[in-house]
Amino acid sequence: MTTKSGLRPDFLWGGAVAAHQLEGAWQADGKGVSIADVMTAGANNVPRQITAGVQPGQNYPNHSAIDFYHHYKADIKLFAEMGFNCFRTSIAWTRIFPNGDESAPNEAGLKFYDDLFAECHKYGIEPVITLSHFELPYHLVSEYGGWRDRRVIDFFVHFAEVCFKRYRHSVKYWMTFNEINNQMMYMNDFTVATNSGLVFRHNEDAATREALMYQASHYEVVASALAVKIGHQINPNFEIGSMVNFTPLYPASAAPADILVAEKMMQRRYWWSDVQAWGHYPCGMEAYFKQHNLRPDITAEDRIVLQEGTVDYIGFSYYNSMTIAVDGEGFKIVANPTLETSEWDWPIDPIGLRYSLNWLQDRYHLPLMIVENGLGARDKVEADGRIHDPYRSAYLRAHIEQMIKAVNDDGVDLWGYTPWGCIDLVSAGTGQMSKRYGFIYVDKDDDGNGTLARSRKDSFYWYQKVIQTNGADL
Ligand code: BG6
Repeated sequence: MTTKSGLRPDFLWGGAVAAHQLEGAWQADGKGVSIADVMTAGANNVPRQITAGVQPGQNYPNHSAIDFYHHYKADIKLFAEMGFNCFRTSIAWTRIFPNGDESAPNEAGLKFYDDLFAECHKYGIEPVITLSHFELPYHLVSEYGGWRDRRVIDFFVHFAEVCFKRYRHSVKYWMTFNEINNQMMYMNDFTVATNSGLVFRHNEDAATREALMYQASHYEVVASALAVKIGHQINPNFEIGSMVNFTPLYPASAAPADILVAEKMMQRRYWWSDVQAWGHYPCGMEAYFKQHNLRPDITAEDRIVLQEGTVDYIGFSYYNSMTIAVDGEGFKIVANPTLETSEWDWPIDPIGLRYSLNWLQDRYHLPLMIVENGLGARDKVEADGRIHDPYRSAYLRAHIEQMIKAVNDDGVDLWGYTPWGCIDLVSAGTGQMSKRYGFIYVDKDDDGNGTLARSRKDSFYWYQKVIQTNGADL
């Protein structure tokens, strides 16, 4: 059965956030320090620094964020007012296991999420939960080197099992690792630290970085598969997905060399979801690993685990496409003259979302969920307190239109749509508050000043109407 828009009647409409970007309360109720707690504030084109532990005098924006930890009841009420029937957030690993390697969980942390999920259900809002969203316990980074150590598999699986058991009746939709494939950009300190807790040492050159990233990634896909398997044993009704950042790579021209390099880089960028969906590595990556002597530690048992823990759906974020051209032996990213860009230089490409939905459907034959999409932009509060943000609704409208075409014209099986940062929060990439995605404005600036008061932007009412009509009135 469908509705006027063509979307299923039980389509999941909501918004997405991650614990470390909004909860704040970084030391409350026994919480430990996570990798996000040692990231300083950056700015547009100024990278965030990863410090050795929490250092005095530094600005760590995630420490207090928007203090959702103490505001969640009022915030969820606002989500309910918009009509959300789902809400994507993550469980901060360090609230449950402050160091990551303890055997007993922290009851106060578990209790917080009991209360949060109960509050969602009060309004008929289904939680959609990411287990690991850039929140690795810092102790696992400093003592184990993050995911470069095989033992971290067991710590993650234990964390997953504790969460699955505790929330088996309150959460149905899960994802294991957020944007697990970001680390493909292994020369970027931020992405490898947030994905895998890899903080590179001075003697770790590009080749070493690449090798460590692939080994760490292998441990993560094994951990993910083990978690999926255990999750299904705990509750066979769980829907456990992968989560990739989907950025289609377009060839810059019709030159065969450009087409081939784009295809090869797509393979290099999406093998994580291949493994999670298919239960085995794609042959192109096996060949690449062999040629470059990468990912040496893979056992026969690992390969069985991968087969036994395939995901139920593909969750993905979509913000933009990228365009690439061959460059000597490698490739380079080039501007796409057909697309506008945001202030943060992210290309704006709604058709790319339809393309992505088609690509993912054809490759995996699994249900899809768009778990992030949105425009980071500066907002201005008018003298009367209102916030006019037509650019935000224009961006989302154009993407929802393409999403609906993908469902109606291309037959894509789409479960839901949760735009990113439904309430303003700390930007992951820059640590800024001023890069805002929300329908709900939060009074806080990049220096941490503000009352934390929440207010409805114009886009709040627009999205409310979209949800009310199940996407028919955009
Ligand atoms: C995704 C992440 O990469 O994009 C989020 O899953 C992040 O955590 C979002 O916030 C937007 O990126 P940014 O850098 O604008 O916050």
